[in-house]
Amino acid sequence: MKNILVVVACGRVHGNTDKLADSFIAGAESAGHHVTKVHLGNKTINGCLGCNACRYEKPCIQKDDMQEIYPIYDTCDMVVMASPLYFWTITAKLKAFIERLYATSKQDDNPPKGRYEKYAEKDCALLMTSADDFFWTFEQAVSYYQFTCINYLGWHDKGCVLAGGCGGSPGKRKIDETDHLKTAFAFGKSL
Ligand SMILES: Cc1cc2nc3c(=O)[nH]c(=O)nc-3n(C[C@H](O)[C@H](O)[C@H](O)COP(=O)(O)O)c2cc1C
Repeated sequence: MKNILVVVACGRVHGNTDKLADSFIAGAESAGHHVTKVHLGNKTINGCLGCNACRYEKPCIQKDDMQEIYPIYDTCDMVVMASPLYFWTITAKLKAFIERLYATSKQDDNPPKGRYEKYAEKDCALLMTSADDFFWTFEQAVSYYQFTCINYLGWHDKGCVLAGGCGGSPGKRKIDETDHLKTAFAFGKSL
């Protein structure tokens, strides 16, 4: 049984991304995993200030809603990030969440090339939705995920669900008209 943290980094509750995350969660729970869903949309999570007061093993000085997420993060085995595609990458909310993990790092006296500190070992996955559905639609977002979450943080990639063709934000959500929800359920169940 895994302890999974799902961060949903969009403003719209019951929108495409929220639905995708819920299907993943239903699949993961059906396989016996414990899931905590955190909707970042209604939380205040500022970007990292770069003050370095947290070096090393001291808490982040920013007293925003990230403080209630840190304990959930600390005890989870897997981080699942769900985000709509905004301007061809992840949302600012998700980027801010990731930046704030800086405060969880530990000193590493012998880091591998290109890494300067140690982060907790976690499994991870990326769930995304978008309006467009070209072969390159998610390229920047997936590249960021690979560089940051896998290469830098050192997390273990369990996969991505990239749900293109979900319609633009102004209209009704269209994800129900696609197979993406089934894919996300099966992915959650397969863990
Ligand atoms: C600010 C903003 C930027 C967006 N940028 C893109 C984009 O670059 N490419 C794209 O295909 N869709 C883009 N979209 C559309 C959303 O990614 C898409 O509608 C998504 O499924 C919305 O998710 P939600 O229903 O969870 O809010 C954008 C939407 C907004 C509001």
